[in-house]
Amino acid sequence: MFSPSKAGRAWWVGGAALSILTACGAESPSVLDPQGPAAREVTRLWWPMLFVATAVLLFVIVMGAIGIWRGRHRREEALARDVPWGDRFILISGLGVTALILVGFFVFSLRSMSTLASNDPLTGLQIRVIGHDWWWEARYPNGGITANEIHIPAGQRVRFRLQSADVIHSLWVPQLAPKIDLIPGRETHLWLRADRPGRYRGQCAEYCGLQHARMAFYIVADPPNVFRGWLRGIGQRANRPTGSLEAQGLQVFLTNTCAGCHAIRGTPADARLGPDLTHFATRETFAAATLELTAENLRRWILDPDSIKPGTTMPPSPLSQRDIRTLVAYLLSLGFGSNG
Ligand code: CUA
Repeated sequence: MFSPSKAGRAWWVGGAALSILTACGAESPSVLDPQGPAAREVTRLWWPMLFVATAVLLFVIVMGAIGIWRGRHRREEALARDVPWGDRFILISGLGVTALILVGFFVFSLRSMSTLASNDPLTGLQIRVIGHDWWWEARYPNGGITANEIHIPAGQRVRFRLQSADVIHSLWVPQLAPKIDLIPGRETHLWLRADRPGRYRGQCAEYCGLQHARMAFYIVADPPNVFRGWLRGIGQRANRPTGSLEAQGLQVFLTNTCAGCHAIRGTPADARLGPDLTHFATRETFAAATLELTAENLRRWILDPDSIKPGTTMPPSPLSQRDIRTLVAYLLSLGFGSNG
């Protein structure tokens, strides 16, 4: 029998598991909340698999319990004599039913596999996505480059061409598409469509090092006309500094380590190790969706990124109070063009 304390513990464990499954509030990325045709295809597979797997689990538990109960009440010799149908039972349930289930699922998933295969003709928008330790680079056909917030037009099928700059990553936006690996030296493909405008959280789904968990991103689905404006903006060069504070910030950027890794198109900074910052201020988050884009977060990040993402390739920049203030002001002025 359950003792009260055991029962209490079971409740607690069950409750904790449930709260983990349902955690993270409104932005929870769940395969059970598909927002596009590719993700719906995955959900269609997921439910039958859950039901069949649950039935198999219950069957195994019941058979195990019967075995334990009988073993306690009979001696072994008696037991062996007692199950003349034992071999047949093992053959039918262990091999026959198992094979039936596995082959059945294979056949059942063939349709999804062909639907999800990205062998459509190369029309429509294509975005090149490159996985880095630990952030995502998105390149658009018009030369626009951004990081970690990948804009797409809502209601349209978009094709991703995926590459890795270092190790294997995996791009997964549970509400929009199945996960797919980014493999060094090889290009993989994925298509997806968001039915409605919105922000869909994605996550790297292949362990890739210390900050794998903080390699998140957003797919931002804009209404098509908004997207057209965004795409035009992202393809342009950076704004010239708007005031003297920002102008000093640009000088700080160019004369310190920043320009050794980052590019700002329209300035002499054109390094490609870190994210392109040309329109940095148009993003809502940075450091792979780890931080909200605010002046204070940006200051903390530039001064000591390792305290926020241990192991990050970005080095600390021990700048003076004044320099950091101008640099943050400059970076936050990098919106969409007044002087494109
Ligand atoms: Cu990239 Cu895990």
